Amino acid sequence: MPTKQELLNNPIQHIDIKQHNVVALVDAMQQMAYSSRDLARAASIYERMLRDQECGVILCLAGSLISAGLKQIFIDLIRNHMVDAIVSTGANIVDQDFFEALGFKHWIADDLLKQGTEDATLRELMIDRIYDTLIDEEELRICDETTEKIANSLDPRPHSSREFIKAMGAYLEKEGKIPAKGGVDSMVYAAYQNDVPIFVPAFSDCSAGFGLVAHQHARQDKPKVSIDSAKDFYELTQLKIANPTTGLLMIGGGVPKNFAQDIVVAADVLGMDAPMHKYAVQITVADVRDGALSSSTLKEASSWGKVDTTYEQMVYSEATMALPLVTGYAYHKQAHAARQGRRWARLLEPVTA
Ligand SMILES: NC(=O)c1ccc[n+]([C@@H]2O[C@H](COP(=O)([O-])OP(=O)(O)OC[C@H]3O[C@@H](n4cnc5c(N)ncnc54)[C@H](O)[C@@H]3O)[C@@H](O)[C@H]2O)c1
Repeated sequence: MPTKQELLNNPIQHIDIKQHNVVALVDAMQQMAYSSRDLARAASIYERMLRDQECGVILCLAGSLISAGLKQIFIDLIRNHMVDAIVSTGANIVDQDFFEALGFKHWIADDLLKQGTEDATLRELMIDRIYDTLIDEEELRICDETTEKIANSLDPRPHSSREFIKAMGAYLEKEGKIPAKGGVDSMVYAAYQNDVPIFVPAFSDCSAGFGLVAHQHARQDKPKVSIDSAKDFYELTQLKIANPTTGLLMIGGGVPKNFAQDIVVAADVLGMDAPMHKYAVQITVADVRDGALSSSTLKEASSWGKVDTTYEQMVYSEATMALPLVTGYAYHKQAHAARQGRRWARLLEPVTA
């Protein structure tokens, strides 16, 4: 039987769009057919939403994207003001991004492991597998425990996930787990520094859930931290009301896709006249047969009054292939050059000074 050390020796490395100018490639795809032309159109819509000075850009993430080598893209989008808010699954933000910020890595699994025949061995070694990627379960437990520590340090009251994730950024700074102190960069920290709010509507469905369960168990009848997902929804809706022109860049789908789309309806429910999302791009492998949310097209979303149909594009592709092209295109065309950080998180904080 191989040792754990032998299996966890080849780390996933995050792709750096800054190093690869894909503009000519994506422009050439515009003159092709099928998914390549869809992708080129999606890239030009993302470029257009960044050039629109009125537009607030919301990035939606589902799937296992950070573990797959896409983390640096999201950090670059945050640091270059190419995204103003993020709605994500907890796995991406806590189990994967925050996990790496704590100093841990994701590892490449070889082809044999990818077949699944060695999963019992992996279990014995406490190694978790995501398709062709491996994670040290013992390190993941440390991530769970860290979220419990953070919960213990907060006011024992309901918090939006956005508030909790901000506290995770503050924790990384306090513990020196940041690039300036020799740590690795992370979305959680980049967003903390740039006042980009991160919302995780199903926050307990990830490593943080284990930390929160432990926190609530220890507190029993005493006041405790809980996560208020209605508060998340209200906060995100307030951003839409403050900044009516919005664009969505959606990877995968899932809860983040619907949560971000629904703020148009929520604003309407509050009696505000918020327009549909003006721009929308979704990269997904889901197909329309099941009638489910992740496969629902952006045209379909327009029937619900959520997404305008002039600048929308579905891209049917696995995200690790399509996202570097879509974001690299906008980055190298300098679509963000005139954008200032919106610092949306500040809109959601009580004024203290
Ligand atoms: N995925 C994990 O490894 C993992 C781990 C721990 C917890 N969770 C939790 O499970 C819940 C579900 O999250 P989920 O991330 O598995 O999403 P999901 O299963 O809800 O997927 C949403 C959609 O995204 C599409 N998609 C996913 N990855 C894609 C990719 N690489 N390229 C293109 N399309 C893609 C899927 O086909 C699906 O249609 C979340 O609450 C999350 O925190 C997930």
